[in-house]
Amino acid sequence: MLRRIIYVVTPTYPRTNQLPEMTRLAQTLMLVPDIHWIVAEDSPEENPLLLNYLISTGLPYTYLKSPMPRQMNRWRVPPVGVSGRRAAIAWIRANAQTGVVYFADDDNTYDYRLFEEIRSTREVSMFPAGFVTKLQLSTPIVRDGRYEGWYDGWIFDRKYPVDMATFAFSVELLRKRPRANMAWTYSYQEESILASLGVKPEDIEFKADDCTKIWVWHTKSIKPELADRKILQPEYDGTNLRVLQEQMFIKPLPKRQEQVQVLPNIITSSSEFIQEVEMGSTEEEEEEDNFSDTSGEFAPEYQY
Ligand code: UGA
Ligand code: MN
Repeated sequence: MLRRIIYVVTPTYPRTNQLPEMTRLAQTLMLVPDIHWIVAEDSPEENPLLLNYLISTGLPYTYLKSPMPRQMNRWRVPPVGVSGRRAAIAWIRANAQTGVVYFADDDNTYDYRLFEEIRSTREVSMFPAGFVTKLQLSTPIVRDGRYEGWYDGWIFDRKYPVDMATFAFSVELLRKRPRANMAWTYSYQEESILASLGVKPEDIEFKADDCTKIWVWHTKSIKPELADRKILQPEYDGTNLRVLQEQMFIKPLPKRQEQVQVLPNIITSSSEFIQEVEMGSTEEEEEEDNFSDTSGEFAPEYQY
């Protein structure tokens, strides 16, 4: 019998430590059969380093180029990860009838046993996540197998005060709720998708042995600084460093020098791409801000 597919949705963005993070996640996913990895990248350009890596893993994947609308970069707290998750939701609606959806950020740490647990999710399932807020834990409170409340450092007015890593939902439920989506917000991302899926706390399916096991950790990594330009020196011509530099994020020249100095032609297109991403573009500054924060409500369908 064909088992239900788990759609693992990973928003990601180009940065110095993107590939090590994706490597860690990919190698966990290699331990799990019957998954489909939806990698949604927050970048206006396709990222050849990431694409080549995805192909090399042999994992079944779909790559979605899903940049956050540029105007949102100027919000006080930009809704990071939302454009990727919304693009993935749209892709799943268009391509899947059954299965399970799980939002797996690229920097968290996952025990492979979690995935077998969530495969049987009928509507919405939940399980604990470690290292979230100062409580270092986000989980439903379960007594005698039944829902009793929430343990999370950020409850306030939320009806579902849990971290992104603590829940999964079925494709069937997503299809039953055609308006379900994640709102363009930083603080109410989990709230918006869970509320729009319309599940009652009493109906949540508890996984990880009735929420007694921590099988996902909200780890954070240090982002290493850009590599020194030493690697570009002519003495290394003809060596392996010319190949390795294509996989590095190299410091751009200081602005003033850039005008007078001609860039050596050893800087190839992929280094240029990397520099562009790191330095950001200035033209977007002039554009009007057409978006407003829709915290707590559901934004209209995002066209991508
Ligand atoms: C915080 C919250 O604790 C999470 O519950 C929430 O999912 C997340 O923000 C979010 O807003 O997405 P935090 O660890 O601080 O988590 O956020 P990151 O790990 O920096 O980003 C979350 C995901 O979005 C990652 O997979 C990351 O690669 C991606 N991301 C981040 C982008 O796609 N674009 C960005 O500009 C930044
Ligand atoms: Mn994170």
